Amino acid sequence: MRRKYVSNIARERGTRFLSTVNSLYVSFIEYNGVFYRLLHPRPTILLITLCPGDRVNIMPASWNLPISEEPPTIGVAVYRETFTYQCLNYHPEATINVPSIKHVDLIYQLGSVSGRDVDKIREFKVQLIPSDIVKAPTWRDAIAAYEVRVMNRLDVGESTLFVFEVLKVKVKTGIADEWSIDFSKTNIPLHGAGRVFHRVDPRKVFAKKSLK
Ligand SMILES: Cc1cc2nc3c(=O)[nH]c(=O)nc-3n(C[C@H](O)[C@H](O)[C@H](O)COP(=O)(O)O)c2cc1C
Repeated sequence: MRRKYVSNIARERGTRFLSTVNSLYVSFIEYNGVFYRLLHPRPTILLITLCPGDRVNIMPASWNLPISEEPPTIGVAVYRETFTYQCLNYHPEATINVPSIKHVDLIYQLGSVSGRDVDKIREFKVQLIPSDIVKAPTWRDAIAAYEVRVMNRLDVGESTLFVFEVLKVKVKTGIADEWSIDFSKTNIPLHGAGRVFHRVDPRKVFAKKSLK
């Protein structure tokens, strides 16, 4: 059965791929779960925005990624039906806050209700401190925080990918070196699915410099 599969592929792709045929000797099955689940778990951040009516809002986002170094940018995919989307249209600055894993319960709650219905800052007693550059405040309990401003945006399906320019990077003392957060000292929530989060294994795995 597998042989047939391989020979079909070889026929379809032509003989120039024959040398790679052996690598096709694997048994993939089609994944029927939600497509992005195989790209999780992902680091979760808390996005704090300024909103109409002089309000502050906060929402977790695990679809975030650094995009470029020069200028330093971070992308966050935001569903357009969120209050956060409305807030970013109202005021283009925000803070991207890195939470500790000890805050998973809070994070889950913050992602389960909308600031349109509930003042999450008050309801969940989120402690805020002023930021240095942007008007949007910083979460006092964050491990680290980025002060950012919207630089670009791209509508994709039901989401908008906001590209934020990083204006300032801050971290709590003693928990990070120039490479990363020290995961033997603190940990971050990697979002799996629903209420499931993972932690970073603090043991490092060093890749060999060469395969030879
Ligand atoms: C762990 C976690 C990660 C999430 N990641 C995202 C995300 O990347 N983008 C997004 O738009 N919504 C994400 N959500 C859902 C929003 O946080 C949720 O819709 C929230 O209620 C929106 O709040 P708002 O309406 O106050 O902006 C996530 C929720 C959780 C719990």
